[in-house]
Amino acid sequence: MDVLVVDHPLAQSRLTAMRDARTDSAAFRAALHELTTMLVYEAARSLEIERFTVETPVAPTEGTRLANPPLLVPVLRAGLGMADSALALLPESSMGFVGLARDEHTFEPRAYMESLPADLADRPVFVLDPMLATGGSLEHCCRLLADRGCTDIVVLCVLAAPAGIDRLDRSGLPLRLVTASIDEGLNDKAFIVPGLGDAGDRQFGGM
Ligand code: PRP
Repeated sequence: MDVLVVDHPLAQSRLTAMRDARTDSAAFRAALHELTTMLVYEAARSLEIERFTVETPVAPTEGTRLANPPLLVPVLRAGLGMADSALALLPESSMGFVGLARDEHTFEPRAYMESLPADLADRPVFVLDPMLATGGSLEHCCRLLADRGCTDIVVLCVLAAPAGIDRLDRSGLPLRLVTASIDEGLNDKAFIVPGLGDAGDRQFGGM
């Protein structure tokens, strides 16, 4: 699996703000918005473009636009905090939604919402979720997309644990990963270490 770590000073400063336990919800959401812009910018490098003629005030010249804007799929809840900034950078995109909650004991995802186009053949998809921990949630989400014919999935996450990367790699699904960091590992509650805590709770408060 192709993995890109966005090791950019501006991305790393936002990640540091998100890691800091003293960062409040408003500042955490703001850092996530800005970091998402950078992750989407990097993920979008490989999107296909088409060329057309544009008239400047002076002369005609060649311009470009996206040939096939990706479907954006935030994984609820935590991925919601990435949705607005991804859509701001890709205003032609449409958005689907997958709702998953990880069981506290088995760590396996429980699906509670699914709103996706029926046919995703020939359509790139950007999946948005801040955390790749065991990989169960993102594997489940990407399988839903592949079942609809998708062959081009980019997963955008803030943090990835090696176990989650391995799981996605072994899944055989057609995906790439763009992340701001590969962290050390998981603790006994399957939280990413050092991580940033629970990205859903830190944005929206505990349930
Ligand atoms: C978190 C996170 C991922 C998932 C990662 O969501 O946002 O979706 O866990 O864990 P995994 O890789 O082990 O599956 P959570 O289930 O806590 O739900 P939330 O977004 O509603 O807080």
